[in-house]
Amino acid sequence: MQKTALIRIDDKELSLPVMVGTEGEKAVDARKLRADTGYIFYDQGYGNTGSCESAITYLDGDNGILRHRGYPIEQLAAHSEYVETAYLVIYGELPTAEQRHAFGQLLRQHAPVETQMLKLVEAFPQDAPPMVMLGALVGSLAAFYPELATNNFEKDLKQFDLAAAIAISKIRTLGALIYRHKQGLPFTHPKDISFCDNFLHLMFSEPYQDYVAIPEVAQALNLILLMHADHEQNCSTSTTRMVGSSGANLFTSLSAAIGALSGPLHGGANVAVMQMLQSIHDEHDDGSRFIEAAKGGSKSNRLMGFGHAVYRNFDPRAKVIGQACQVVLNKLGKSDPLLDIAQHLEQAALKDDYFVSRKLYPNVDFYSGIILRALGIPTNMFTVMFAIGRSPGWIANWREVASNAKGRIYRPRQIYVGPVQRDYVPMAKRG
Ligand code: ACO
Repeated sequence: MQKTALIRIDDKELSLPVMVGTEGEKAVDARKLRADTGYIFYDQGYGNTGSCESAITYLDGDNGILRHRGYPIEQLAAHSEYVETAYLVIYGELPTAEQRHAFGQLLRQHAPVETQMLKLVEAFPQDAPPMVMLGALVGSLAAFYPELATNNFEKDLKQFDLAAAIAISKIRTLGALIYRHKQGLPFTHPKDISFCDNFLHLMFSEPYQDYVAIPEVAQALNLILLMHADHEQNCSTSTTRMVGSSGANLFTSLSAAIGALSGPLHGGANVAVMQMLQSIHDEHDDGSRFIEAAKGGSKSNRLMGFGHAVYRNFDPRAKVIGQACQVVLNKLGKSDPLLDIAQHLEQAALKDDYFVSRKLYPNVDFYSGIILRALGIPTNMFTVMFAIGRSPGWIANWREVASNAKGRIYRPRQIYVGPVQRDYVPMAKRG
């Protein structure tokens, strides 16, 4: 028998259907609530609202579980690599050797950007914020590939494969070009090498000398990108879906997602973590003062890299990256005082009643910055790295929306709390 939830309001009784996901997540299907009762559910920030059904990522924040297409993140971290996980996230299955090869080829073919686009990069002021540049450049892909600037790939799915590969490959290349522009360095051109090696080459090769990636460095980069590949209905992914739901094309939707990711409470947190660790270091504090200030409840003083909108347990990605951090530094023969501070902060916060009682644990950003720094990537590029990693998740979510023939435009409602109706006052009578 179909389970239902009963709502009784204003002498009306309404039976709402209950939905259950494949992992047992439960929801009350409230789509008819307003039409039948005149009421909406109020859920500021949508923290308790399911905006879609999705078959991409399962996240159980209470138990610290994250799975892409059913595969636990820990297994993907141990056995997969970024490009394979990107394929899995977008297409739903791990690729066969042939599929993996074809996908890799497509990414390599589309690594270079057009000459006109190089000019666009150059046109930005050198001190432009990298995420502002990335959002604008990714949006402009819709102009460079007008035939792919559509939300309807149903007649020719190969066109979707192309659009997805262009997006992933060029976001990576553009990220590196943005870095070089900001550093005042001449542009490098992609080579026919693996995804991560190519990124490191684009970033760090000199006109007179190719950068030769240490395997451990490329592996660490691979891990960081893989860890960010998707994360359910976070702010930027929901943005992708929302923009895509209007019929907007993939590149425009990705550009909006990049804007959403740029905020300090989302993708910008990895930058904020490094700034926090650096300021603790500069002030010769061991972090104790910072922890005390963070307990004041002010948003501007939060312990960055701690807490999560859905995890009320360890972020499983933070566990993997935290362990990798020490390994990478050891392999590179580097030590980092900021890692010592981060470890001290983590230990202190995990014993502190304020953080324990609020279930605030380290999130993915707490340690990722230390690895990125060890790889030679400057702090102002950290959120760009996040965007490169997250692009498969955005693309997969956009595709779910675009290919859903029964989908409707995302259009939340509100409770209006402004002035009630009043008459227009001519300027002479105001004041
Ligand atoms: N430091 C200190 N206190 C915190 C922190 C923190 N990092 N995070 C939450 N709190 C406090 C809140 O002030 C609140 O306290 P109260 O109950 O006394 O009012 C309580 O913990 C609950 O927090 P919420 O605000 O409900 O948490 P919310 O789910 O809204 O926010 C968020 C989640 C934005 C991630 C928050 O924890 C935060 O600002 N963290 C720091 C920024 C950060 O690391 N962001 C990265 C997130 S991961 C990602 O986007 C990849």
